[in-house]
Amino acid sequence: MKRSRPGKTVADSTVVTTALAQPNDANHLGNIFGGKVLAMIDLAGAMTAIRHCRQTVVTASVERVDFDHPIKIGYLVIIEARLTAAFRTSVEVAVEIHSENPITGSRCRTCSARVTYVCLDEAGRPAPVPPLVCETPEEKTRERDAHARRATWQQERRRGDCEE
Ligand SMILES: CC(C)(COP(=O)(O)OP(=O)(O)OC[C@H]1O[C@@H](n2cnc3c(N)ncnc32)[C@H](O)[C@@H]1OP(=O)(O)O)[C@@H](O)C(=O)NCCC(=O)NCCS
Repeated sequence: MKRSRPGKTVADSTVVTTALAQPNDANHLGNIFGGKVLAMIDLAGAMTAIRHCRQTVVTASVERVDFDHPIKIGYLVIIEARLTAAFRTSVEVAVEIHSENPITGSRCRTCSARVTYVCLDEAGRPAPVPPLVCETPEEKTRERDAHARRATWQQERRRGDCEE
């Protein structure tokens, strides 16, 4: 498969959204359900991948979700999703969630995750994605780490196939 689409920067697709932690999304302790947070992560991640690909995407995997602190009802939830790497037909997106005290404005990093999306063509087949142009040293480091993780995943995936 030939990949000839023009490259895009991380900033081209980065998504930052803010939501309010609502009572109907919370448990009896007044903290937002983990499942609700996962939905926020997937939504922001998908919007980032769609912006990069400008095509339909599907979630292929959600990896390494850490819930470091609870999010309380009434707090603001800031969701930031940015591309870490573009592969052949898939992209990896890192999502970070901060909660913000609505009165004091103090922020706390509550959750982070990495999500892989696969770009699909009109027939629903995996389609080539634009290359990612990393501009800063941090972006280059994140991209390098993503490629290393993917190499490990591919080895494990291949090993699994052989065992069957
Ligand atoms: C994701 C999906 C499209 C991959 O299809 P497939 O036939 O396995 O396609 P391929 O093996 O050719 O892989 C296509 C790409 O997906 C990636 N991929 C497939 N499974 C993956 C996984 N579990 N984690 C990360 N990447 C994955 C491959 O690495 C490949 O990426 P690359 O082209 O950048 O190298 C298919 O498994 C699917 O439709 N899954 C269901 C998706 C879904 O319904 N998500 C939830 C609702 S949105």
